[in-house]
Amino acid sequence: MTEINSVTTLTRDGDVAIVTLNSPPVNALSANVRDGLYEGFKQAIDSDAKAIVLICDGRTFIAGADITEFGGAMKGASLPEVQATMENSPKPVVAAIHGTALGGGLEVALCAHYRVAVPSAKLGLPEVALGLLPGAGGTQRLPRIAGVEKALEMVTSGRHAPAKEALEMGLVDELVEEGQLKEGAIAFARKIVAEGKPLVKVRENNTKLEEAKGKPEIFAEFRKKNARKFRGFDAPEANIKCIEAAVNAASFEEGLAEERKLFMQLMTGQQSAAQRYYFFAERQANKIPDVPDDTPVREVKKVGVLGAGTMGGGIAMNFLNVGIPVTIVELKQDALDRGLATIRKNYERSRGAVPEQTEKRMSLLTGSLTMDDFADCDLIIEAVFERMDIKKDVFGKLDQIAKPGAILATNTSYLNIDEIASATKRPQDVIGLHFFSPANVMKLLEVIRADHTGKDVIATSMKLAKKIGKVAVLAGVCPGFIGNRMLSQRQREANKLVLEGAMPWDIDRVLYDFGFPMGPFAMSDLAGLDIGWVKENSKGETLRDVLCEMDRRGQKTGAGFYDYDENRTAKPSPVTEKIIQDFRASKGINARTISDEEILERCVYPMINEGAKILEEGKAIRPSDIDVVWVNGYGWPVYRGGPMFYGDQVGADKVLAKMKEFQGSMGDDFKPSALLEKLVSEGKKFSDLKA
Ligand code: 3HC
Ligand code: NAI
Repeated sequence: MTEINSVTTLTRDGDVAIVTLNSPPVNALSANVRDGLYEGFKQAIDSDAKAIVLICDGRTFIAGADITEFGGAMKGASLPEVQATMENSPKPVVAAIHGTALGGGLEVALCAHYRVAVPSAKLGLPEVALGLLPGAGGTQRLPRIAGVEKALEMVTSGRHAPAKEALEMGLVDELVEEGQLKEGAIAFARKIVAEGKPLVKVRENNTKLEEAKGKPEIFAEFRKKNARKFRGFDAPEANIKCIEAAVNAASFEEGLAEERKLFMQLMTGQQSAAQRYYFFAERQANKIPDVPDDTPVREVKKVGVLGAGTMGGGIAMNFLNVGIPVTIVELKQDALDRGLATIRKNYERSRGAVPEQTEKRMSLLTGSLTMDDFADCDLIIEAVFERMDIKKDVFGKLDQIAKPGAILATNTSYLNIDEIASATKRPQDVIGLHFFSPANVMKLLEVIRADHTGKDVIATSMKLAKKIGKVAVLAGVCPGFIGNRMLSQRQREANKLVLEGAMPWDIDRVLYDFGFPMGPFAMSDLAGLDIGWVKENSKGETLRDVLCEMDRRGQKTGAGFYDYDENRTAKPSPVTEKIIQDFRASKGINARTISDEEILERCVYPMINEGAKILEEGKAIRPSDIDVVWVNGYGWPVYRGGPMFYGDQVGADKVLAKMKEFQGSMGDDFKPSALLEKLVSEGKKFSDLKA
């Protein structure tokens, strides 16, 4: 064995040389890895071996460029040098793939002459998710193998294709048995040599590109079809342009040069900076300073859900989906029947629904009218009405019924979980698991740590969240926790802006253009204006009261802030406009013209300020956790990183100055947080704050 460097070895199996990488956690292409590959291949080529296999130790093949190196000075061998060495090797090079071959990792594999993989492997070019494009020839080689349409879909979705599909696409030449990758790859390499197979260079194969030449409609249609999905993002269009270049360029090199140029544009832009930041933010959120990775966890083999309403049903589905049995309890038979029927309907209507799978999941679900059936559950999640008296009553009962060590969770949106926990004799077992609606779809889970919540309960909740496919963020007890607490700032300002002179659709447009999927008023119409509205108590005091009293309760009644046609397309409503004008007149308000800039600043800066208060009070561990909440739970555009990242991009000093200006003219809704003041006085950013 030759040790090439600290992460690379060169070994021999008879006449086959084996270059092995071992750079945990994911064999990313850091300088060390590139050096190791470059030197390893050179020595293998210079040896008397007849073929070369590239394989990785650990959990995966190369998962891409090392994202932490981006933006820094280039050291060591360059990726193109490594790729050229492999591709120009006079003896066949075989890449042996397990885990994931992603981004630069797949681009390296595409410079091998052949690729073999185990069935569980996945291959993809996910750069788009980082606001980038495959910058090492991926956009030029993939369409040469998979064809233009498939390549467009792969690079703009960033999807990881399973090995079987990769085989069909021609990305992989042969599947080898699970656990036998090395042996399989060596045998394959010997076969290539024995049969005198050619040294296939993907770059030289233009057949599939020829098929797309002179057909600009392929690209036009693809853009049109995906316009909504790509709205606001720079990277998808740049990816498409690269594939277009592959088809239209006079040579491979010319296409490559275009790819390089567009890659550098994205790399130095604000969107990719935000998306790369976000990649690490999501992973950071799992790290809780006083709950280390090795904290013991409790076993969760059976889950109880109390309440089969909007949230309870969706919450149950998350566990059924991963094979964990659920008992769901309601007050009355009809509510239970409705809840169970909704779950079934959601399964049947979900994309790619398979009847057997629906039945399998439903068979894990038991409905009941008594909490006694929670006795054998390891985790019980309460999702009943949002009232403290009811929650305390329920937790008092759960305390009697649940087995020792069971985790008792509440899905409350605003209530004080310490108070809820006080209804039990086991506050160490009580935690908040705040799902978002629809709970079977939304990725975010706010995990709420109360005063006495046990560390093992926190660790268990964070791990379980991952298991059910959620992105979990730990928050402390405060009204609305992280997300809703900040949302109420935006909502308050949006409502005030309408009174002052803006129309709901002006505000919605500004926030939509900023990148949110919809503005607050369109959102209210979708959710229903009558959530929490009680007819008997309604005295026309707010705009919402008036609209609800007129039976304009949102999309479901065909009108709310907007008017809706039969396709539920929203139109600004003259009725609403008149109501607003009358409302202003009744309050003696003279409407003024409000600029888009003011709308944005009024809606967003108080959120950033509230985020700072949340940090100052220790209710969030770090600024990036807040950003993860907003991107996953509220549609904050990921290409703007999240509210705290955006605050840094705008500049904490500028946010503070505006808050002070607004405070001066409009009062203490804009009182700056002490932390924001401190950051500015010290010339720091939110990103300078440590957990
Ligand atoms: N660079 C640097 N660090 C990386 C990394 C990368 N490409 N990919 C993963 N990591 C780190 C993570 O930050 C994490 O670190 P931590 O333990 O300190 O938090 C650790 O590796 C493990 O990652 P995950 O927690 O995500 O592990 P999973 O097993 O859940 O997922 C994965 C593994 C599917 C490989 C996932 O990490 C992933 O999707 N990685 C990014 C892949 C990617 O985007 N590649 C393209 C990079 S850009 C590129 O290649 C440009 C080229 O075209 C020139
Ligand atoms: P919902 O009204 O749709 O459902 C509540 C269900 O609980 C009803 O079916 C009711 O019959 C049942 N219920 C009430 N008391 C019960 C008891 N003692 N035993 C058994 N069942 C009982 O309410 P929704 O929207 O599902 O909200 C539930 C909780 O989730 C609330 O705390 C709410 O704040 C929270 N939440 C709601 C979100 C939403 O968007 N709807 C989002 C996140 C949290």
